[in-house]
Order: sequence, then C-alpha cells, then structure tokens
Amino acid sequence: MHNDEWSTETTDPVVIVGSGHSGVAVAAGLRTRGWEGGILLIEGESGLPYERPPLSKELLKDGAPNESSVLRKDKFYADKGIVRLAGVSAESIDRGARTVLLSDGTRQAYHRLVIATGSRARPLTVPGAGLPGVRSLRTRDDALELKRLLVPGARVAIIGAGYIGLEVAAAAAATGCEVTVLEFQDRVMSRVTSAHVSHHFEQLHGRHGVRFVFGAAVTSIDGGQRAERVTVADGTVFPADVVLAGIGVLPNQELAADAGLDCRDGILVDGDGRTSDPAIYASGDVTRFTSPIDGASQRLECIQNALAQADRVAAHVTGQAAAEPEIPWFWTVQHGVRLQTAGVRHPADQVIVRGEPSIGKFSVVYLRDGRLAAVDTIANLADFRTAKRLIAEGARIDPRLAADSDIPLAEAVSGTPKHSDADLAAARS
Ligand code: NAI
Repeated sequence: MHNDEWSTETTDPVVIVGSGHSGVAVAAGLRTRGWEGGILLIEGESGLPYERPPLSKELLKDGAPNESSVLRKDKFYADKGIVRLAGVSAESIDRGARTVLLSDGTRQAYHRLVIATGSRARPLTVPGAGLPGVRSLRTRDDALELKRLLVPGARVAIIGAGYIGLEVAAAAAATGCEVTVLEFQDRVMSRVTSAHVSHHFEQLHGRHGVRFVFGAAVTSIDGGQRAERVTVADGTVFPADVVLAGIGVLPNQELAADAGLDCRDGILVDGDGRTSDPAIYASGDVTRFTSPIDGASQRLECIQNALAQADRVAAHVTGQAAAEPEIPWFWTVQHGVRLQTAGVRHPADQVIVRGEPSIGKFSVVYLRDGRLAAVDTIANLADFRTAKRLIAEGARIDPRLAADSDIPLAEAVSGTPKHSDADLAAARS
C-alpha cells in the first residue's frame, strides 16, 4: 500500500498517533508480526521521523542532522505499506464511532488506535520565560535553533542539571560558550542517580569549565528585546545570552484524557499497552504502568521502554506473544564519558561503589531488600551487561563481594558464593 492508497475502504486500519521511537516501532512491529490491515502514522512534525538521542549530543556539536539520524528511510514506509501523514496532529477521538479527528479536518476511522504522543519539555513559568533566547530542547527544530545560538563566547545559562541540561552543557562548553548550570537540587542528575555518580560528573564538567549553582530557584529572566540575565531567589543575577530550560517533561496525554481514558500523570496502560478502552493502546513516554519487576507504578522516559511497549502493543494487536520484558536501561554521554544505567534506582536503596571513580572506571550498585535493583556504570560495560541479567533474575547480592571490583559482579550473587572470606582477602592482597 502506498501513501495515496489510504482510503475509507482500508481494512482493519490501525491508526498510530505520534511518530517518535515508539510510534514508528509499533508500525514496524505490526508488519514484522504479519499484520495485513492498514497502518496510518499521524506525525505531528514534518520530515521523516528521527532519532532523539543525537539532538542533545552530536547534532549540537556537528550541526545539521544527517541521513542516519532518521528512524527509517522513506523506502521502508513505502515497502511496508505504512502510510504517513506528516505535519498533521490528532485533535480528538470519537470512541463511539472509532474515529480520530485530524488537524487537516479529516476523520480517520480506526480498528485499533495507538497513542504514542510522547512527552514535551516542561515549560518554565517564571516572568520573562517567553523572551527570545529562552529555549527548551525536545524536537529537531529545537536542537537546530539551539545549535545556532551556541556560538563561541556566548553566555549560556542552563536551568536544570538533568540529562538534557548536562548534555547541552557539554556541547556548549565544547563550542567555547561560558556555561552556568542553575539546579534546584543540591547535585546533578539527582532524579536518576546517587551522589557518587553526581559528584563524578560535576567534577568532569568542572574540568571543562562548566560552573554549577545548586539550590538555585530561578525567579525571573529579564532583558530588553531578548533574554539578558537570569535572577535566582537569593537575588544573584547571572548574565546570559542564551537560557536553556531542561527541567523535565510532561506526558502528552491530553488527547487520551479528553476522550475519557484513564490518565494519572501518563495514560494508564496494562502489560499489553491497553488503555481503559479495549480498542485503544498507548505506548512510550506518554504511558504509566505497573512495573513487572517490582510492582511500582511508573512512567519511563527512555528508548528501551518506547521499543518494548511498542512490541507488546504490536504483539497484542496481532494476537501473538510479546518478547520477554527487558530491564529498563538508559545512557547519557557528557564530555565523551558515557554513563550507562540499568534498572530504576530508588533513593532508599543500599548504595555500593565498585571500582575507582578517580580513574574514571567504576559502577554503583543499588540493592533493594538485598536484591540487585539497578546499576550505574562508567566505562564498565561488563557490569552493565551482568547487572541487566541479575536484575531480571531478582538476584540477591552479597554487599561485601559487590564492593570488590576484582570480583566479577556475577560472583557477588549470594546463595551460591564462589568466594570465601579467604578468597576475598587473597583478591585484595
Ligand atoms: P530530568 O528530569 O532528567 O532533569 C530535570 C532537572 O531539572 C532535575 O535535575 C531537576 O531537579 C531540575 N529542575 C526542575 N525544575 C527546576 C527549576 N525550576 N529550576 C532549576 N532546576 C530545576 O529532565 P531533562 O533533563 O529535562 O530531560 C528531559 C527528558 O529527556 C527526560 O525524559 C529524559 O529522560 C530525556 N533525555 C534522556 C537522555 C538520556 O537518556 N540520555 C538524554 C536527554 C534527554
């Protein structure tokens, strides 16, 4: 089926709203699993659906996006009979009639609807947030505009020391900008990691000239024609030519909520990606679901989850079994240093450091009730891979063995200890 072949006659149409990693993966997964009905992808943005990770990394460094940054080439959609509507958004759902009203005024009938609308940058709400020069980073256009503003010597104030803020800080510093990061909490990446990892990255950024101000609550952004300075609660003023807000994301759940689907900071879905309407699925950043690992209600903002949920949706729509659930994992690269995380840490977890932060190769292991719950790894892919497996197995870990980086993590599993105290002593000697 080609783009001009979509019509009201299309059989069993699956309409997918959103063409990020998850939406495109649902479309591809349906075909891989043999779906013969129509597939329509509603893409809010123009151009081919693209990869998001390079936006805050390579694109800011190297400029224009290249061909490899698209999720799939044009030919893929044509070959698979996936019809794309680019630059069109879904406005509302008529659940009784099973139709979606689009911004081009048309109504599309669906047999199954998949909402993969993702998330948007949380807007900064202080006075002056609307001034030119105040940016956020979520889309390719956002990244291209930010790239234009990051010129050598520019004073860049970044609000929020999360993934986005820090990746942009690294790119801006590499470009020769003067970078100040204003973070509400007392350390970087506090949402996702422990103090050990935070401090490692703070020092790394510090060596590249990035300045941090913690406990900083921005109260206003001021300037004439455009942003010129940022003021924080204690009255300190930071001159800035560019202000980037990287203060988290909000799920794009309005389409679902307005249609009466159950939402609570995300569209609620079950393990098959089904919403409270059996004809409607949701997938990716926009969903909230119960973790099969620990029963926690969660909204995961990562590509692994976007792809895993897409597979579950495609499997359920086609009446097949989904792949085994994978442990959530995340990565970020800052100043060339890669932090690779598996599992989702809780602030109350027992924290064990393995290896030597001072030489830039270490892991931080998080135990919950004695079981491996998550790991952060820096230059230690072996621990990352092992931890993913052990987390999935619900392995119990001996904290003393785990703390010794000379002992492979797999051998820190308690119950089948491979190392006696004598071995430990020998390993340390
Ligand atoms: P984030 O949640 O990672 O970090 C937001 C940071 O802003 C937090 O440290 C928070 O304490 C701080 N903050 C919030 N409000 C603030 C305020 N008013 N003033 C100062 N600081 C404030 O969110 P971020 O960095 O915006 O990332 C957005 C999304 O992009 C997330 O979904 C993230 O997972 C995704 N992303 C993932 C990457 C990765 O996996 N490597 C890379 C880049 C983005």
